[in-house]
Amino acid sequence: MRVLGIETSCDETAVAVICEQQGLLAHHLYSQTAMHDEYGGVVPELASRDHIRKLGPLIRRVMHAAQLSLNDDIDAVAYTAGPGLMGALMVGSGVGRSLAWALDKPAVAVHHMEAHLLAPLLEDTAPGYPYVALLVSGGHTLLVEVKAVAHYTLLGESIDDAVGEAFDKVAQMLGLGYPGGPRIQELARQGSPDRFVFPRPMADRPGLDFSFSGLKTHALNTLRGLASVDHQARADVARAFEDAAVDTLRIKSMRAVERTGVQTLVVAGGVGANQKLRRQLTRELAKLDVTVIFPSPEYCTDNAAMVAQLGLLRLQSGAREPLQIRVQPRWSLEDI
Ligand code: KG4
Ligand code: ZN
Repeated sequence: MRVLGIETSCDETAVAVICEQQGLLAHHLYSQTAMHDEYGGVVPELASRDHIRKLGPLIRRVMHAAQLSLNDDIDAVAYTAGPGLMGALMVGSGVGRSLAWALDKPAVAVHHMEAHLLAPLLEDTAPGYPYVALLVSGGHTLLVEVKAVAHYTLLGESIDDAVGEAFDKVAQMLGLGYPGGPRIQELARQGSPDRFVFPRPMADRPGLDFSFSGLKTHALNTLRGLASVDHQARADVARAFEDAAVDTLRIKSMRAVERTGVQTLVVAGGVGANQKLRRQLTRELAKLDVTVIFPSPEYCTDNAAMVAQLGLLRLQSGAREPLQIRVQPRWSLEDI
């Protein structure tokens, strides 16, 4: 069976084809980050319009790369139905569901975060179950225990801003543009670790939930309190913010693996590209004999390979989508 996967939940248009026997055959994406840069974040209407422009050509490009024909070689279509931006999701779901109908093949609507959770299975060295996944992106901050496909326990999540969103907003305050994460990481290298020390939100509470909105406000108040905001001051604020955000993610991740007793932590989502987070988690979790796995960047951030893979798994277990075009912008992992 060969499955075409479509992802348009936020600011990446992505398409992939996966084969039951041969694995991933081709995948490509088009990122809109440059388009959203001048606004300091994703503009939903612009995102939707660009998905409309890019999705058709991208499907043709992926089919060409895999040397396959839509009519003859595709057995099913999988697409992200949520969570995400309403308009953006409607493009992928509308095209995906309609294409499956036109080809007279089954369709399957998948959950974007579930696709992220299972993305490490795309790697040659896939983790064994159970594992804890730390999912850190522009829209989500979750700790989830993955016991098997479709067996997830939500351990903790952000009660306000996602950590990537906090990186992006602080970057905007510092005049760095979008996406903020990599730019804060760069600037923080020149910052002092001692000039400002930001709080580690909720670290002193026993649970596994996160909160990043206070940290963002702390950065804003620190900047407002400065007589002059020169390059060094901005670097020092970037450093204090990055240290606090990374420390908080590490503290909660360690608590989650201790509580569940798993041997593996998987880090997924765009913030997982952060070098300091990678170093700290690897070093500190080694002390607990826990292996930390970072999927390669192409599977860590938004992509369609993970959507096609989850679609295939769902189809194998008999899932079929009715004819309606389903879009679910808010969709809890626990409601799958
Ligand atoms: O998973 P992703 O590509 O897209 C979704 O949000 O679904 O994640 C994007 C987020 C953005 O907020 C971006 O600022 C953040 O990941 N990010 C980083 C780094 N690279 C990307 N945050 C911190 N450090 C980085 N190096
Ligand atoms: Zn994502």
